[in-house]
Amino acid sequence: MFYAMQHAQEQDRKDPLKGYREYFFNDDDRLIYLDGNSLGRLPLKTIEKLNNTVQNEWGNRLIRSWNEGWFVKNQEVGKKIARLIGAKDNEVIVADSTSVNLYKLAFAALSKNSGRNKIISDNANFPSDLYILQGLLKSSFPNHQINIIDVESNWNQAQQKYRETIDDKTALVTLSHVAFKSAFYYDMNAMNQSIQQAGAIDLWDLSHSVGAVQIDLNKANTSLAVGCTYKYLNGGPGAPAFLYVREDLQEKLLSPITGWLGAENPFEFDLDYHPSPGLLRFITGTPPIIALAGIEAGVDLLLDAGMDNIREKSIRQSNYFIELYVQLLAPLGFELVSPDNEAQRGSHISIAHPEAQRLCKALIDDKIGNYSIIPDFRKPNVIRFGITPLYTSFQDIYIAITQLKDIIENQWHKDIELEDEVVT
Ligand SMILES: Cc1ncc(COP(=O)(O)O)c(C=O)c1O
Repeated sequence: MFYAMQHAQEQDRKDPLKGYREYFFNDDDRLIYLDGNSLGRLPLKTIEKLNNTVQNEWGNRLIRSWNEGWFVKNQEVGKKIARLIGAKDNEVIVADSTSVNLYKLAFAALSKNSGRNKIISDNANFPSDLYILQGLLKSSFPNHQINIIDVESNWNQAQQKYRETIDDKTALVTLSHVAFKSAFYYDMNAMNQSIQQAGAIDLWDLSHSVGAVQIDLNKANTSLAVGCTYKYLNGGPGAPAFLYVREDLQEKLLSPITGWLGAENPFEFDLDYHPSPGLLRFITGTPPIIALAGIEAGVDLLLDAGMDNIREKSIRQSNYFIELYVQLLAPLGFELVSPDNEAQRGSHISIAHPEAQRLCKALIDDKIGNYSIIPDFRKPNVIRFGITPLYTSFQDIYIAITQLKDIIENQWHKDIELEDEVVT
């Protein structure tokens, strides 16, 4: 029976990626980490890398370290991420936050496509991305307008709605590759064709897809992309983000934040700005070396395991989650928020329940049930579970769902007090 613990354990024994779980810090057997995904686990190798950066490179080598690897670290880590997302070595750089990178690339795209005044996005996109666009229009493009398409009410029509909305006034189309709340997953190839045929520029947010699904930016002819490193790349809290600019566009675009490290010869200290050739013009200021050092080990693990294998396991685990959900949770008043079609779903699963916030707290509470289970809560009623194949086991999924069922059936969540936490 697929809904017995033995079945889950059997799947884990047969799992070709099972060894990767050991490469992550975990000293609590009663903790099941299914955060989905605001912060990936800590790779053990990262502890070594950070120690080396702090003690040896900073402590011993001091300023000399800038010429011993620090100055090109953002490019070196960028190259590794490039391999993960089907880009060329010179097309990805690590810098700033996802929001700032989105600002830089959206500004650059709107300036290039200056004869057009329409931006298109949708209501599955991450709010920060929409805020950035709103701010951009207010400060710099007052005659532009943003058109937000409703895709959440029917994903099957998402592509069609975009096709109907993109026109010869559209300068920029910007969207999340995998939606943060529902996990809806766009077909990047098909979308790029519609966007580019109409003469608009595509700008993708890969934060919830990088390290979670296969990405081939070059094959999809993607123009621009940004993404974060603290989710499926396990880069650590607040680790810097990355940006991608297709090679042929790099010399045609300019960053709106013309800092010295994006200039051609920063150490000439010229008083006039001349952009660096190629992608480096999108760097702003001094990179955060310690945080950068935290990104590498997680990306190495993903490259080593291979995104095809990771995606294959992610789909098997997500389908297993949904089978259990249908049997054990759907009859208890839950609703599946994520697409049930695996081809339309990234690597997290969201379910809704009117008591979602209390249930989430009950799952995390180590005094309720045998395990402390960490998903995350998204207002108003969504519990989001991340499937991270390098360290999620089938047993984790089985325990999470059966414990959630026990909580509901025994009403263990009813007395939980809800304080308004800043981070959910
Ligand atoms: C899809 C998506 N885009 C953008 C952001 C914002 O990223 P940052 O805080 O690095 O600007 C997030 C943050 O979680 C996100 O999930």
